[in-house]
Amino acid sequence: MEEKRPEVSEFDSVDPAPPSNIDDVRKLRMTICDEDEKMFQRMRALFALRNIGGQESVEALAAAFGSSSALLKHEIAYVMGQMQDSAALPYLIDRLQDFDEDVMVRHEAAEALGAIGDRTALSVLEKFKDDKDTVVAESCEVALDLLEWVSSKKLDYTD
Ligand SMILES: [Fe+2]
Repeated sequence: MEEKRPEVSEFDSVDPAPPSNIDDVRKLRMTICDEDEKMFQRMRALFALRNIGGQESVEALAAAFGSSSALLKHEIAYVMGQMQDSAALPYLIDRLQDFDEDVMVRHEAAEALGAIGDRTALSVLEKFKDDKDTVVAESCEVALDLLEWVSSKKLDYTD
């Protein structure tokens, strides 16, 4: 029998940090939101929250959008896309719409909105596909196509 390597997640990606062994969402939320904690530990909490999933995990991740780290925030947006949970939509839309937000975060929020595949995100992606920031504009363009593709796949599954 093949042993499952713990560092390989169901998302088939090699993460920049291994997920934390902690499975208490409240503790993970405290770690990821702690601006004094080492970034590696915050990333570990992030991937643990992604793997646990569900509304409470989405909200814990969203709470860390209050961080000053663009690196962490872009990673949050990325895992929200992987989770494909519509509960993340309002938080991602907020990041995309915030012109003061780092471009890396806005770009990743746009792509995550595409990856989730929920048509609720169509109008906001349309709105920003001509953003003055080319990276954001291009991300919205890609996300619109991705959203169509993902949502058509979802229809296949439910048929
Ligand atoms: Fe990216």
